Amino acid sequence: MKHTIKIAPSLLSADFSCLSAELKTVEKAEFLHIDIMDGHFVPNITFGPPLVKAIRKESGLFFDCHLMVTNPLKFIPAFAEAGADIITVHVEAEDDTAKCLQAIKACGKKCGIVLNPDTPAEAAEPYLDDVDMVLLMSVYPGFGGQKYIPAVTAKIKALKEKIGDREIDLEIDGGINLETIRQAAEAGANVIVGGTAVFGAENRPAAIQKLREAAVL
Ligand code: DX5
Ligand code: ZN
Repeated sequence: MKHTIKIAPSLLSADFSCLSAELKTVEKAEFLHIDIMDGHFVPNITFGPPLVKAIRKESGLFFDCHLMVTNPLKFIPAFAEAGADIITVHVEAEDDTAKCLQAIKACGKKCGIVLNPDTPAEAAEPYLDDVDMVLLMSVYPGFGGQKYIPAVTAKIKALKEKIGDREIDLEIDGGINLETIRQAAEAGANVIVGGTAVFGAENRPAAIQKLREAAVL
């Protein structure tokens, strides 16, 4: 079954001085991608649960919390309570991935795993019966505005095959623009993160629409 395309603007590229207004500009998207960075797993710090809780009141989008943290286990309940709809954890994090997925489900939320660019597709295999989404990084995590790593396209294809008939979303994150989105979608990605591509655009609804059109094969 072909999954429908879901556009996920990445909050990291929004203007933090007026988040409420920024969120209104992306309400035509499906997901809001929220990058949680701890300054340890990645060399940058971003948002905590209070921020997620505050913006939960401002948006009806599906909150996609991407945890780039060394120890996700201790933060999962707080992000769940703050209003996350799905929480994804890196297989490269220190905490046991299966335990993290159980903890997310125990909070009543959807769960997913994330693979860094250099992590092989096989690393996702043990978890495919337990996740709602697999997120593939197409840049090294930590910052917005980087270039899409073309080698990741083959990994999207490989993952898509491994997923087979399972109802799992396949998300791609990093360096997505109107060019790179085509190869990612053609390879099988259906949840498309856009930081610069959405919040860097003057007209966000138009940017979302253009990405959506470019992703439809
Ligand atoms: C990078 C983050 C991305 C980032 C993408 O570590 O995980 O979600 O916001 O930004 P762009 O789309 O600008 O590459
Ligand atoms: Zn992300």
